[in-house]
Amino acid sequence: MPTQTLDDQIRQAEEHILAGDHGDALTLLHEVLSEDPTHTEALNDAAVKCLEAILQQDPTHSNAFFNLLDTLALTDDLELVIDAYLRYEEQIPDTEEKVEYAERITSEAQQNVDEQAAAQKVGATLATWENNAAHSNLINASEPQGTPAVQDLEKLVQEWDNGAWAATPTYLALLSQLFAQTTGAVVECGSGVSTLVLHKLNQHGERRVISLEHHHGWYERLQTTLPQDTTVELYHAPLRSYDGFDWYDMDSIDLPSDIGLIICDGPPGTTRGGRVGALHVLCKGLRPGTIIVLDDANRSRELAALLDWDEAFNVHVELFTEGKGIALAQIAEQ
Ligand SMILES: C[S@@+](CC[C@H](N)C(=O)[O-])C[C@H]1O[C@@H](n2cnc3c(N)ncnc32)[C@H](O)[C@@H]1O
Repeated sequence: MPTQTLDDQIRQAEEHILAGDHGDALTLLHEVLSEDPTHTEALNDAAVKCLEAILQQDPTHSNAFFNLLDTLALTDDLELVIDAYLRYEEQIPDTEEKVEYAERITSEAQQNVDEQAAAQKVGATLATWENNAAHSNLINASEPQGTPAVQDLEKLVQEWDNGAWAATPTYLALLSQLFAQTTGAVVECGSGVSTLVLHKLNQHGERRVISLEHHHGWYERLQTTLPQDTTVELYHAPLRSYDGFDWYDMDSIDLPSDIGLIICDGPPGTTRGGRVGALHVLCKGLRPGTIIVLDDANRSRELAALLDWDEAFNVHVELFTEGKGIALAQIAEQ
C-alpha cells in the first residue's frame, strides 16, 4: 500500500478520534500499523492518543489497556510497552490476560538486556566505588558515614539497565541512609540494583542481609552479577499462597529474629494482596524500632497494606506521595 494511502487512513482515524468514534479510529490505525509497524505518526499521534483518551475517560477499560499495549508492542519498543503497562496497570482488574501480559513483559525485558555487558560494567563500578558520605548531594550534613555517593548510585542504575523496574538513585540513597541508621538483619523483598547497593553497604558482613526474589530469571541475573564473596544471602523464593495474600515462600529460609530493616520493593503489583505479606510472614523477626520501607506506596494495594499493618501491628507510618510514593513504617515501642 503506498505511503499516501496510509497517511490518508491516519487523517481519517484522527477525524474519528475527534468525533469520539474510538472503535473506528482503532480499526484504521491497526490496519496502518499492520502494514507498516514503524509508522510513528500512526502510533504516537493517533493510536496511542486514542487509547489513552479512552483510558482517561474510563481507567478500568481493559480492552483499551490491552489494545494500547498490543499497539505499542508493534513497534518492538519494549520500553514504551512497559511504560504504558506501569501507567495503567493498577486500575485494570487482575484478569488472566493481565497476569499473562505481566509475565510476558518480565521475560521479554530480561531477554532485551545484555546481561553480560551490564554485569561487567556493574562489577567494575562496584569494585572501585568507595562508600563515603562526604560527596552526597541528597543526604544532609549529618548523614551517617558509609553512604555511597549519588553519582555512583546514578551510574550503577544506568549500568544495571532495567528501566522503570529498577530502584531510583534517590530511593537507593534513602536505603543507604536507613542501612546506616539501623542495626540487625536486613530483609529485602524484590531484588535488583538495590541488592547490589546492599552488597556494597555490607561488604564486611557485619549484618545478615537477605534478599528474596520470586522470579527465577531475575534471581539468576543477580546471582551472576553479585561478586562471589558477597555477604548478601540471595534466595530464589517463589510466591506461594498464604491466608488472604500471596508472598514469598520462606519455608527453607532461616528467618532472623532481629530484623532491623525490611525493604519492600516486591512482589510485583499484580500479586494477590500486593506487599501486605511482608509483616505477616516476617512478624517473628520484628522488634520495636524495625523500619519498613515500602516502594510504590501510592498504589491502592500498597495503601491498603499500610492500613492493614497499622491495624495488625503497632506501627508509625510516614507517607511521601511524590512520584510513585514511598512509605516508611516503624514498629513502635510497646
Ligand atoms: C520493582 S522490582 C524490584 C526492583 C529492585 N528492588 C531494584 O532495585 O532494582 C519488583 C520485581 O519485579 C520483577 N522485575 C524486575 N525487573 C523486571 C522487568 N524488567 N520487567 C518485569 N519484571 C521485572 C522482579 O521479580 C522484581 O523482584
